[in-house]
Amino acid sequence: MSATVVKYLLEKTKDLSIEETLSFLTNEYKDKVVFSTSFGQEDQVITAIIAKNKIPVSIFTLDTGRLFQETYDVFHRTIKKYKLEIKTYFPDASAVENLLNKKGPNSFYESVENRKECCFIRKVVPLTKALKGNAIWITGLRAEQSENRNDLTVFEYDANFDIIKFNPLLKWTLQEVQQYIDDNNIPQNALHKQGFVSIGCAPCTRAIAEGEDIRAGRWSWESSHKECGLHSPLAPKGGNSED
Ligand code: ADX
Ligand code: SF4
Repeated sequence: MSATVVKYLLEKTKDLSIEETLSFLTNEYKDKVVFSTSFGQEDQVITAIIAKNKIPVSIFTLDTGRLFQETYDVFHRTIKKYKLEIKTYFPDASAVENLLNKKGPNSFYESVENRKECCFIRKVVPLTKALKGNAIWITGLRAEQSENRNDLTVFEYDANFDIIKFNPLLKWTLQEVQQYIDDNNIPQNALHKQGFVSIGCAPCTRAIAEGEDIRAGRWSWESSHKECGLHSPLAPKGGNSED
């Protein structure tokens, strides 16, 4: 069923621009199209397209409670500039309290298991809430970001969240994204000018050196496991793992 829908959407939108595809989707799936933004460069391009074309998409962000101040700054500038509502999903307070009471505030550095537990509480559970009841999830994923994103298509069925993903910038290069931002005067995270490319939570993100992989700055103390469960399979019984 989901494979048929993906095929239908790929076929139906193959000659459409991003703007046209978004309009098509919001007509076809009225009030069931959502866009998740972490205010990264790709997300800022998509937000600008949605705002400029007044496309009726609900935009949300997952505030993990551990974001950089610069991320809150670009969040604030974005809602002011585009007069947009961006809904915030926060982790469950008692789940965070329990985690910190049991393991302390920096348990994610101690093991991959602890790190995934924190991502699960702060990202995956709130995302599940945000996606519930919706049909289309728009993301800023790009193929060149990592090996496992290289195989994606513009429309994908995500079995973890039982939803169809739309990745409009899938084939864009980082340079194209940055050019679009410059050409359209789009607000961006000040950290990008300090060598940060892929930006997540503050304790788990560092700047990268020239020539390093785009995602080298995410969970840089881990040799693999460069995903947090938003875009990778969940482990059984509430853990999350892409292993
Ligand atoms: S992650 O899985 O490693 O954290 P990444 O930072 O590459 O993801 O972002 C890819 C896409 O996931 C973004 O374009 C956005 O759609 C979504 N995303 C990631 N983090 C968040 C967040 N905190 N809030 C909302 N969406 C997010
Ligand atoms: Fe926790 Fe780090 Fe995952 Fe953020 S990225 S949810 S701080 S482990």
